[in-house]
Amino acid sequence: MAKITIDGNTREVADGTLILEAAMEQGIDIPTFCYMARLAPLASCRMCLVEIEGQGKLQPSCATTVADGMVVRTDTPLVAETRKSMLELLLANHPLDCPVCDKSGECELQDQVFEYGAGEARFQDQKRVFYSKDIDLNPVIIFNAQRCIQCQRCVRICEEVVGAVALGTVEKGMDTKVTGFENSLAGCDHCGNCIEVCPVGALMSTPYRYKARPWDLKETDTICPYCGTGCHLSISVRDGQLSRVRSKYETGVNGETLCVKGRFGIDFIDGDNRLRTPLVRKEGGLTAVSWEEAAAFIAERADGAIEKGGSGLGGLASPRLNNESLYLFQKLMRTAFRTNSIDSSSRWSAAGPGAYQSLEGLFGGLYARRSLHQVLEADCILILGATVTDETPVTEYMVRGVARSRGTKLFIASARPSRLDSEAISSLRFVPGAEAYLLSALLNGIEGAEKTFANMGALKKSLLKAAKTPPPEFGEFLEKARTAFGAAESVTLLIGADLLRSPGAAAALSMVHGLGRVLDALGKRAEVQFLFDRPNQMGAWELGVLPGLLPGWRPVGDAAVRAPFEEAWGASLPADSGADFRRMLERSEAGKMDVLYVAGSDPLLSYPDGGLVESALSKARLLIVQDAFMTGTARLADVVLPAATFAEEPGTFTNNEGKVQELRPIRRPAFESKPNAEIFALVAEALGRDLGPVSPDAVFAEIAHLVPSYRGLSRDGLGDDGSYTRPFAEENGGDLDDPPLAAPRRTKGLELVTGDSMFHSGYLSGNSPVLGNLSAKAYVEMNPDAAAGLELADGSGVVVRSSHGEMKARLKLNKRFPAGVVFVPDNFADARLNRLLKHGEYPCPVEVQRE
Ligand code: SF4
Ligand code: SF4
Ligand code: SF4
Ligand code: FES
Repeated sequence: MAKITIDGNTREVADGTLILEAAMEQGIDIPTFCYMARLAPLASCRMCLVEIEGQGKLQPSCATTVADGMVVRTDTPLVAETRKSMLELLLANHPLDCPVCDKSGECELQDQVFEYGAGEARFQDQKRVFYSKDIDLNPVIIFNAQRCIQCQRCVRICEEVVGAVALGTVEKGMDTKVTGFENSLAGCDHCGNCIEVCPVGALMSTPYRYKARPWDLKETDTICPYCGTGCHLSISVRDGQLSRVRSKYETGVNGETLCVKGRFGIDFIDGDNRLRTPLVRKEGGLTAVSWEEAAAFIAERADGAIEKGGSGLGGLASPRLNNESLYLFQKLMRTAFRTNSIDSSSRWSAAGPGAYQSLEGLFGGLYARRSLHQVLEADCILILGATVTDETPVTEYMVRGVARSRGTKLFIASARPSRLDSEAISSLRFVPGAEAYLLSALLNGIEGAEKTFANMGALKKSLLKAAKTPPPEFGEFLEKARTAFGAAESVTLLIGADLLRSPGAAAALSMVHGLGRVLDALGKRAEVQFLFDRPNQMGAWELGVLPGLLPGWRPVGDAAVRAPFEEAWGASLPADSGADFRRMLERSEAGKMDVLYVAGSDPLLSYPDGGLVESALSKARLLIVQDAFMTGTARLADVVLPAATFAEEPGTFTNNEGKVQELRPIRRPAFESKPNAEIFALVAEALGRDLGPVSPDAVFAEIAHLVPSYRGLSRDGLGDDGSYTRPFAEENGGDLDDPPLAAPRRTKGLELVTGDSMFHSGYLSGNSPVLGNLSAKAYVEMNPDAAAGLELADGSGVVVRSSHGEMKARLKLNKRFPAGVVFVPDNFADARLNRLLKHGEYPCPVEVQRE
């Protein structure tokens, strides 16, 4: 600790603290431009200069650390005069065009000139002009170079946090010019973080340009609807219309950053494809009707089927819906439609009941329900089955941060390469399906680990099986990871969505348990967190939107488990385990599905066996689709119920950290759409059931009463930072099984994998005009050598063919791609990739040929 006196106040602060930060802690305001807590100090703007006793020259407080006995003064005449001079210098070249500048009213230069400036300009020289016009750097960023004050926050956030290195500088001093490659931004993510940190109106958002003045905007804080990182968004609206989305300094898991989807993709709420009124199929076509008519239609068509009961009813809901809606959905299906055939995982055809059993165990203990920042403080991090850069970009920024600043040992094992690989000690490319094998081989080589296997029950067999002959391509990765894990005191495993796509999901999750146990037995702290690319996968699962499981992962077949729900809901519940979405489709295809209720999901676009999905959905006797958009699935429906988007209804999401965060509506639902919760209540009422109060407070209270991991939480108590759910069981309680270990697959042909791209992750992004403009069509990505062997050139049109179907797209070559792997982003409506994919098979063997 160091004792330091600032402006007469003496305090002890930690060694290594910057004077600026020590002053901030004491509530002393020092003006800055180039400083940002998250970025390496540059000390270029000289606004933060302070006097230090015993030192002849003023020192930059943003780059000088405290020393014991130091006496600092921040408000002397010399300091004030110097600040005035620095501002005068900046204004010498700054165009005084505040009346037409988008930043006016929230510009740091304006504020500081007002607070510390001279009040008049003495420089009469010609101002420096870099370019006579503003430059469109790309579709979302416009640059006015004259306004730049050379703080380089943009360049540093792009390089240090985003990792894109799309911006740089040329020349020096006052002539320093921020630039991209030839005035465009090659390799830019379009995340807009450079716009966010620019203190002046130099870097500006094109979609927001000339739209509003800050004082005309109504700002609402809410949570991003795209991925499970759960970033805070501040959404500004003018006259009910979306104006812009920003992040807030030091707020939420994301701090001042967002990715392109969060910052520019929220415009889907005003997309052309919004549903306006309820629709009912009459004489073959969908016809606009009133809500009453739609509800009566459902009641009339569903009544007989409910009375008949049995397996002819079921529902699918999206993990993009909020907690309250998901909870009400399963309550509606169980009490009004009297079925346990409920699912929320339509993208993972290969993950069956075994996988959910393992997930339940993980949710009970090893899964860390605490901040990602804390979880990333481990000595070693292993990312398994995820392409973090594209799927959960802000999580990627954080992982990069710890790898660089703390020297955390990062390992990545995934099918696709990503920018994060360059931060890793070692990256392994492998075809999905061999995750359990990989983990087993890793554990087997950690020093001293084998001695712990004796206590691992049946798992011992699989632990010993893999390691004897690890394939050569695993060699270097395994060697480095075993050494690092062996030396580490703490290990974090981050699991991505890819792991759940493969038929090996259950085995992989069992082995994750094994990893936790073995590391624990070795005296190390092991934690798991998920990297889901949907905002509320955690909520969907824990609130019972799964076949066979009531909220809290509890088996519906057990009468004692059902009893409290029956009491709370005033209804007896069916006891059968229900069907997953696959079985619902099979029944429908066989003409045995009376009612299928799809809420917020478009399986026609996303579920494997696209051909079967289309045929099966068409054969359901009553297909109810509740959505904000006219999706492909909605076009097949008998009744379509227009729902609010995430930005038009209250509720909560539970993010990958297990944190429950509040969604605040920015406006009332568009057109005649209604909040999802209200629609479920309306449908229940039409069927003669009462779902009870459906206000967000009431539903949340019910969840907190019935779901162990939500116990003790209240909506009021969530506050701005949210509250963590809790583990509900002891991890070390149960027996571990002996999962089958699939050795890494070796084929001579090509294997197709899929997932999100940076600009697209499902039909929300598909309805965003800005994201659509950045990435309108699906593409095929593969290794240049593999492409050359097939005489395919970059950008050429290709056909990808599986045993199931084919699709056409342009080829994109990526030399970091493994030779045998082909990637096509999923959920592009033009490609209908799901027509190629087969249920239960992942990755999918394909051929690629010239079109
Ligand atoms: S938008 Fe993002 S990636 Fe592009 S230049 Fe700005 S910070 Fe860098
Ligand atoms: S463009 Fe903005 S953030 Fe970048 S150096 Fe100039 S003033 Fe600073
Ligand atoms: S990282 Fe995820 S939650 Fe954050 S802004 Fe991007 S899509 Fe939204
Ligand atoms: S903020 Fe310290 S020199 Fe710029």
